[in-house]
Amino acid sequence: MKYQSSLLLFLTASSLANNITTYRVGNTIPWSPKTPGSVDQSTIYNGTYYLSDRTNAGVHVVNLTTKTQTALITGFATNFVNGSLSPDVSGPNGLIVLPDRNELYVGDGHGTVRVINLRTNRVVANISTGSKTRADEFAYDMTTGTIVVTNPNEETPYVSVINAQSRTVTSKIMFPNATELEQPVFNPARKEFYVSVPSNPTNPGGEIAVLDLHNNTISKAFPVPQCVPAGIVLGSPNALFIGCSETQIEEFGYAASFIMDMSTGIIKSNISGVAGVDQVTYSASTGYFYASAYLDLPNPILAVISSNGSLVQAITTDNVTAHSVAVDQASGLVAVPIQKKGIVLYNLENGTAAATSSGPLARPTSGAGRPLAVNGAVLVGLLIVTWVMSF
Ligand SMILES: *[C@@H]1O[C@H](CO)[C@@H](O)[C@H](O)[C@H]1NC(C)=O
Ligand SMILES: *[C@@H]1O[C@H](CO)[C@@H](O)[C@H](O)[C@H]1NC(C)=O
Ligand SMILES: *[C@@H]1O[C@H](CO)[C@@H](O)[C@H](O)[C@H]1NC(C)=O
Ligand SMILES: *[C@@H]1O[C@H](CO)[C@@H](O)[C@H](O)[C@H]1NC(C)=O
Ligand SMILES: *[C@@H]1O[C@H](CO)[C@@H](O)[C@H](O)[C@H]1NC(C)=O
Ligand SMILES: *[C@@H]1O[C@H](CO)[C@@H](O)[C@H](O)[C@H]1NC(C)=O
Ligand SMILES: *[C@@H]1O[C@H](CO)[C@@H](O)[C@H](O)[C@H]1NC(C)=O
Ligand SMILES: *[C@@H]1O[C@H](CO)[C@@H](O)[C@H](O)[C@H]1NC(C)=O
Ligand SMILES: *[C@@H]1O[C@H](CO)[C@@H](O)[C@H](O)[C@H]1NC(C)=O
Ligand SMILES: *[C@@H]1O[C@H](CO)[C@@H](O)[C@H](O)[C@H]1NC(C)=O
Ligand SMILES: *[C@@H]1O[C@H](CO)[C@@H](O)[C@H](O)[C@H]1NC(C)=O
Repeated sequence: MKYQSSLLLFLTASSLANNITTYRVGNTIPWSPKTPGSVDQSTIYNGTYYLSDRTNAGVHVVNLTTKTQTALITGFATNFVNGSLSPDVSGPNGLIVLPDRNELYVGDGHGTVRVINLRTNRVVANISTGSKTRADEFAYDMTTGTIVVTNPNEETPYVSVINAQSRTVTSKIMFPNATELEQPVFNPARKEFYVSVPSNPTNPGGEIAVLDLHNNTISKAFPVPQCVPAGIVLGSPNALFIGCSETQIEEFGYAASFIMDMSTGIIKSNISGVAGVDQVTYSASTGYFYASAYLDLPNPILAVISSNGSLVQAITTDNVTAHSVAVDQASGLVAVPIQKKGIVLYNLENGTAAATSSGPLARPTSGAGRPLAVNGAVLVGLLIVTWVMSF
């Protein structure tokens, strides 16, 4: 019995490197009542998926056990400007679960934050943050019951600080001359709130602003070179994934997202090829970041990225509604809204794809979850063929 030892060595090394979990498309939940053209953020809590849908002026509620839509929480503002639905003055937009209160906070037009009781799916309070344009994205510090929400589309963008207990706005922090604001995040390791600022005169490529809630100031700002950041999320302590927007590609001529160490502000990973990102999320159980790179043109993808900054998988999505991504912390299941399909669920499976190095991003051509490189099964097949041929 003879076989080519070089191929066997390749197979052995590759099997070990390939022994990681990747995603394959599972169920799709059809749109109801109508196919949206404008959705925003999503999240998964207790096996239930929530998606902001401006076209249907409501939040979709999907039971991930039965994989069916169980409710649409309505009452949001749908406003048209020159014949098109305008996200800047409509809702629902950003959303966040307050797990200790069983509440969902959702941003709406005219600066309204709607508080929803998750046991009844009813709006139990409306909090006015005082803007003409929308309230948008959220961060929450459970230890102090403090919520930060962005008012990104005002002439001078600002964030509102809300007390979860009294459901009142306690202060505002202004961002003079910022173009807009993106995702805020709370870092429990340093007890700090951060805000993703796409661009301002000091840092045209964007910055991560650190808030000081004692005196309602921006205490410092870490520049993000040539990024124009959108979504941000924490992974392991102090590791902030920063999704760079499509403006990065337009203004700076390349595509990359970053991981920043929030104890120093130093960028420790450069994820080449991943841009045009909006919402990002993280799962401690998989150790992966998920970036909705829906304007990573010409190929919109969901990028699955390891904590070490290597791209694990690129899943084909769309350039309309797929700027939203949510992960189930318990199962690792991922959900992405795709306009022509519905809410698409992706399931984890073991060891079918190869991880890429930091090289250029190979793109899937169709379908979901195509591995980035040749997979283990193909290599086993090659080995068997070689083994048989050696007789
Ligand atoms: C792959 O990882 C699993 C645990 O995550 C382990 O049980 C299995 O032996 C590994 N397979 C290989 C070929 O290393
Ligand atoms: C989802 O459906 C399952 C199966 O019917 C049920 O046990 C569970 O309570 C449902 N979840 C919610 C939040 O209603
Ligand atoms: C709406 O259309 C008018 C006339 O074309 C234009 O002046 C205005 O800037 C448009 N408004 C927006 C928000 O695009
Ligand atoms: C979510 O799960 C926790 C823990 O099981 C439970 O205490 C809580 O009531 C659940 N909340 C909702 C809205 O289902
Ligand atoms: C919240 O505001 C809506 C109108 O936008 C109103 O119909 C509803 O009654 C309000 N809910 C509460 C709890 O105040
Ligand atoms: C904001 O820009 C205006 C001019 O557009 C300038 O007068 C003002 O000083 C700037 N403010 C800050 C804080 O940079
Ligand atoms: C805000 O408080 C911090 C200390 O927490 C201090 O370093 C900073 O100078 C204060 N900023 C202003 C504008 O007072
Ligand atoms: C990230 O990598 C790209 C090349 O893909 C490079 O052009 C860019 O300068 C890098 N950015 C940073 C901040 O390291
Ligand atoms: C990065 O993580 C992936 C899986 O999460 C692993 O396959 C790969 O070997 C790691 N790369 C490095 C350089 O540690
Ligand atoms: C979005 O994708 C469609 C094809 O699905 C394409 O026709 C359209 O030009 C794309 N839009 C942008 C902004 O790239
Ligand atoms: C992957 O393999 C590990 C160890 O064999 C197992 O615990 C885990 O449940 C598997 N995950 C999936 C998604 O099949």
